[in-house]
Amino acid sequence: MTKLLVVATGNPGKLLEMQAYLANSGWELRLKPEELEIEETGDTFVANACLKASQVAKATGNWAIADDSGLQVDALNGAPGVYSARYGNSDAFRIARLLRELGEQSQRQAQFVCVVAIARPDGAIVLQSEGICQGEILYAPRGNYGFGYDPIFYVPEKQMTFAEMTPELKRAVSHRGKAFANLLPKLASLEITDS
Ligand code: IMP
Repeated sequence: MTKLLVVATGNPGKLLEMQAYLANSGWELRLKPEELEIEETGDTFVANACLKASQVAKATGNWAIADDSGLQVDALNGAPGVYSARYGNSDAFRIARLLRELGEQSQRQAQFVCVVAIARPDGAIVLQSEGICQGEILYAPRGNYGFGYDPIFYVPEKQMTFAEMTPELKRAVSHRGKAFANLLPKLASLEITDS
């Protein structure tokens, strides 16, 4: 039996990415209705992922999945954090702002965090999973792959920025990849009759 899972995003790119992670999971993914808008009012990744999944599930009457992610820079007290997407009007502005705020600071530790949440049709959250990827913020962008802050996020273990990694390698080491890897076994054992 194919089970329907509504993705709490309006972004077709995110749908494709989730489809790659959840291929062979037995769930069929579908974008949320366009007119259904959910504001990210939470002040943590967990709160935002849960509120998106829960509201989309209740509004559509289906199971729903949502993720929330962002970059936390230690020397900036965790900024931009949940405001990563709202830190500027474009990726270039967001990167420029982050590099400006960090300046010549030598302490450049940072982490990407991703939380994925799944809600059943009545809105109750039944699964949550978190993935973290540790790295450092470079002084200047490097690499052409990816999106967002990828060109300035350096992963010492691989000696590459996210933007220098192939999509396959990034999936293997990234916060999102880890969050989905944690989620898959839990999803497989989920009892779906109890909505
Ligand atoms: P959201 O999870 O769609 O709310 O987006 C969070 C924001 O964090 C994105 O718009 C990016 O700016 C940033 N972000 C999240 N994950 C990544 C990543 O893998 N690479 C680069 N930037 C990311």
